[in-house]
Amino acid sequence: MRIVLFGPPGSGKGTQAGILKQKTGAAHISTGDALREAVANKTKVGLEAKSFMDRGELVPDSVVIAIAEQKLRSTGDNGFILDGFPRTVAQAEALDVALRGLNKPLEHVVNLKVDDEELISRLSGRRVCSSCGEPYHVHTKAPARENVCDKCGAALVHRDDDKPDAIRNRLQVYKTQTEPVLGYYEAQGLLRNVEAVGGIEDIANRILEAVAK
Ligand code: AP5
Repeated sequence: MRIVLFGPPGSGKGTQAGILKQKTGAAHISTGDALREAVANKTKVGLEAKSFMDRGELVPDSVVIAIAEQKLRSTGDNGFILDGFPRTVAQAEALDVALRGLNKPLEHVVNLKVDDEELISRLSGRRVCSSCGEPYHVHTKAPARENVCDKCGAALVHRDDDKPDAIRNRLQVYKTQTEPVLGYYEAQGLLRNVEAVGGIEDIANRILEAVAK
């Protein structure tokens, strides 16, 4: 499996990537997770990225392209699930070049479709594990013990960019800078639209059906 999971903030890219990774053995590559790790470790990249992320702005292309290329080089034979990359046409073009070099062309770009009202509700109620990154939701996917990760036992946190002002900005940035990437992939015949509202397992099955065609 060599796919991009595409969609606005809160559409379920991270949630679905986790399930697809389990089902297929493909590597999960999230530029958001890699950037949050860099911020937590106070690396040069992390220090540069933090202010963009807190405001809900995109981190500069050169930074995220370098991260994605490095992760892609170490993927094995089961392929990859890109989550949150590419987010600009320049990133999509750089991805094409990188994958051509690795002889691992993209097979599908899965666009997770969710309306804005649902996105805001998902993001404002989201909590994530401070250690393994597993996403939860205070209503729809609560952990067994309050604020404790079911998978690794670490504490759950409320992301800084899941506060109301940053959420509004992220949705706006998605519409102006990221949505145009859909046209890029439609022209290549790679785009698969999937309705991403409803049960999490049902959506995973819809994605698997869409990429089997
Ligand atoms: P990133 O971490 O990629 O954030 P995002 O794209 O905004 O996506 P999210 O993680 O918010 O949402 P998601 O679609 O993964 O949904 P999730 O599964 O968590 O990026 C963060 C920042 O890093 C960016 O703003 C930017 O600054 C920077 N960045 C990253 N990549 C970049 C790039 N390529 N270029 C430039 N900058 C970059 O689900 C959300 C919630 O909904 C959870 O609570 C979940 O439990 C719940 N949920 C999931 N599915 C369902 C369902 N079916 N029903 C009900 N609830 C559900």
